[in-house]
Amino acid sequence: MFKARRLIIAHLLLFAAPVQIMANYTFLGQLNSYQRTESGLLLTCEDDVQLRIEFLTPEMFRVILERPGYPNDLLEAPLVKTDWEAVRLEFGEHDTHLILSSAKVDLVIQKMPCRLAVLDKQGRVISSDDPGLGIGWDGNEVRCWKSLAEDQHFFGLGEKTGDLDKRGREWVMWNSDTPDYDNQTDPLYQSVPFFITFRHNEAHGIYLNNSYRSVFNMGAGNRRYYSFAADGGVLDYFFIYGPAISQVISCFTELTGHPPLPPRWALGYQQSRWSYASASDVRLLARSFREKQIPADVIYLDIDYMDQFKVFTWNSKTFPRPAKLMEELRQMGFRVVPIIDPGVKADSQYSVAREGVEGGYFLRYPDGELYTGEVWAGPSFFPDFSQKDARNWWGARLAGMLDLGADGFWNDMNEPSVWGKAFPLEVLMDDRGRQSSLKKMHNLYGFLMAQVGYETQRRHQPGRRPFQLNRAGFAGLQRYAAVWTGDNHASWEHLELGIRMMLGLSLSGMPFVGTDVGGFIGDPSPELFVRWMQVGAFSPFFRNHSAKNTRQQEPWSFGKEVEQICRQTIEQRYRLMPYLYTLFWEASESGAPIIRPLFWFFPEDTLAYDRRFQHQFFFGENLLVCPVTRPGQRILPVYLPAGQWLEMGSGRLFEGPSEYLIETRPDRLPVFLRGGAILPTQPLRQFTDEPVSGDLTLEILPTTAYGNFMLYEDDGQSFGYEQGRYRLSQFEFVTQRDNLVFTQNRPHDQFLPPERMLQIRFHRIAASPRRVLLGKEALSPLPEGAENVAGFRYDPDSEILEVRIPDAADGRSLKIISK
Ligand code: GLC
Repeated sequence: MFKARRLIIAHLLLFAAPVQIMANYTFLGQLNSYQRTESGLLLTCEDDVQLRIEFLTPEMFRVILERPGYPNDLLEAPLVKTDWEAVRLEFGEHDTHLILSSAKVDLVIQKMPCRLAVLDKQGRVISSDDPGLGIGWDGNEVRCWKSLAEDQHFFGLGEKTGDLDKRGREWVMWNSDTPDYDNQTDPLYQSVPFFITFRHNEAHGIYLNNSYRSVFNMGAGNRRYYSFAADGGVLDYFFIYGPAISQVISCFTELTGHPPLPPRWALGYQQSRWSYASASDVRLLARSFREKQIPADVIYLDIDYMDQFKVFTWNSKTFPRPAKLMEELRQMGFRVVPIIDPGVKADSQYSVAREGVEGGYFLRYPDGELYTGEVWAGPSFFPDFSQKDARNWWGARLAGMLDLGADGFWNDMNEPSVWGKAFPLEVLMDDRGRQSSLKKMHNLYGFLMAQVGYETQRRHQPGRRPFQLNRAGFAGLQRYAAVWTGDNHASWEHLELGIRMMLGLSLSGMPFVGTDVGGFIGDPSPELFVRWMQVGAFSPFFRNHSAKNTRQQEPWSFGKEVEQICRQTIEQRYRLMPYLYTLFWEASESGAPIIRPLFWFFPEDTLAYDRRFQHQFFFGENLLVCPVTRPGQRILPVYLPAGQWLEMGSGRLFEGPSEYLIETRPDRLPVFLRGGAILPTQPLRQFTDEPVSGDLTLEILPTTAYGNFMLYEDDGQSFGYEQGRYRLSQFEFVTQRDNLVFTQNRPHDQFLPPERMLQIRFHRIAASPRRVLLGKEALSPLPEGAENVAGFRYDPDSEILEVRIPDAADGRSLKIISK
């Protein structure tokens, strides 16, 4: 370890030339003095520039650059946790450097000039400042340069186009309305200045806590360094060591907030269109789903429900009695989510505009004049969501929508967009009395809008979990809203791009993500539509949405054959709901995303990073989804990492690691159950909360010596779980030579699901078992059609052994004896 440490120090010293001012940047100079602080160090360098280092956990530390004459106020909004336990640190001073060590990393601080390097406990350098550049500034701009290794990959950065690996390009954080974007467009709607990178198969992340326009150069135009910079504000970043990627995300979401558990209905299929133009259209839509027996939970109302696009109004001709409409839909098991645009039509006859002007709730230029910008409703005012009174006022208006029967909000155009044009930067926001310009606040606008919406829902309907869908956002938005990837295009390229964007967002702390399924702009072919629906069914957020003047895109709009495939596809999602809901619970506990790239589980496997397989993704731990993203693709190259993989549907078993060519079918995607998996499913429902009785089924692939799954269940809608009203069932199996033992126990048991039995389907069982024992009781073969009785059934063709037992954690284990 010390050898490696000496090496890196020698390496840093090699470049320890006196600091010069090169071009316009000034670089952090030599370390003149330092002070130990409670959680780290305060380093004072040339010209009294200070670097504050604070350890928040053994794997996470914060670096803050303080420059005399420049404001030092740190961005607070994205950060939820501020009270961190003290971290045990060891400190040592040497001639050339200081070392601050936690239990997980060693931070080496070179003195001449001041540069940082992070070493793991094996003494390997996992990150180091570029020796010559390190940290620098040019007027308001602040920047950090870090050395770039040959094999370094970058992931995350929020909502970005391009490859999943962000290396080799420069990326900008500036929330932008970019309809019909393509694979090169940057920036888009959201800004998440956070990325994850790997060195020596160990993951670490960096979060730049700065809302100004920022730039991430991931080795674009050079092979020497990557850098991140902000146009203003403080250089304030968090370094988060893994070494597992899951630990980086867990730490990052502890810092910026775990996503709360959504209402279960928000995991169902959702139908949207710009627009269902009248209440009768909406009723017809809802009835069609129920008549055609295509499961669905949510209907969206796009801008045409309003009167002349005036937010918080209803068109009295087309939507004459919104409360009645929403009540009827509720009776049919639908939830309704209306769109909310922040722009308020500048019209003195319009009460919302009048109230806003009188109350002083709208944004103004620095000279006091009200700002107006053009959006749907024409010239509009923009609420100041950073101002307390404006928040209360907007909240009261939102509460009115909830009282009418809305189930959540779809916050759109909140980059904020003024028809894709530049929102003037000099406009001011209150920012807790600081009066900050849009230079700082622009990227936070959508985040603050979502915060008001979330807090209003929690306050106004304390017994119900809020739901929101947001277009713009910033790090931490996961606390308030799901996100979708904006105005995409009905093309094969966008189907692929959407998968990469969802994965990128998932790796940026935002697990509740989806695309406009089918494509927003343009008309999908039936084949593209089907393939997109199939990906949608495995997307965390599953909403079909399309633009005005495009073809209808409801599941039945492409003929009977497509309708039937869509039905089955959506049904599959509803069957998987216990699994999906548990994944959302995991996300709420640790930030772990619902969909995960191959390298999430296989960081040491180089093929897991291969561009060819960057559209494959894990849906939780147990399912590997291999989307078909090309027209007419009959043969799909897939990569199956180490382990056994059972193709769902065909029942074929594959052995990894290996590349395979898989024959595709039009009616389903290749989806693989992982060896060792326990996958819970439920009987079909037409909407998530429909009371349907039936077994809880576990699909088990016992090709490993051990497997387990923790199932989470609660009422799906209230905050009862915060008082402990939920159930955790731990299912496990152990395979021995001639038998297989399955057990269930309940680490937490304060929620009672409806009466049911447990149906366990063991896959790849070579022969009918000699005996099946539940505790001491021998189970009998199940007669055809038998329901609600315990027993077993073996099918030699599919090699599935089905066992039905009471769903009771009564201490009895299930033993399958083959010989
Ligand atoms: C924006 C949204 C889109 C919506 C349209 C009309 O383009 O991104 O989803 O349908 O506005 O409100």
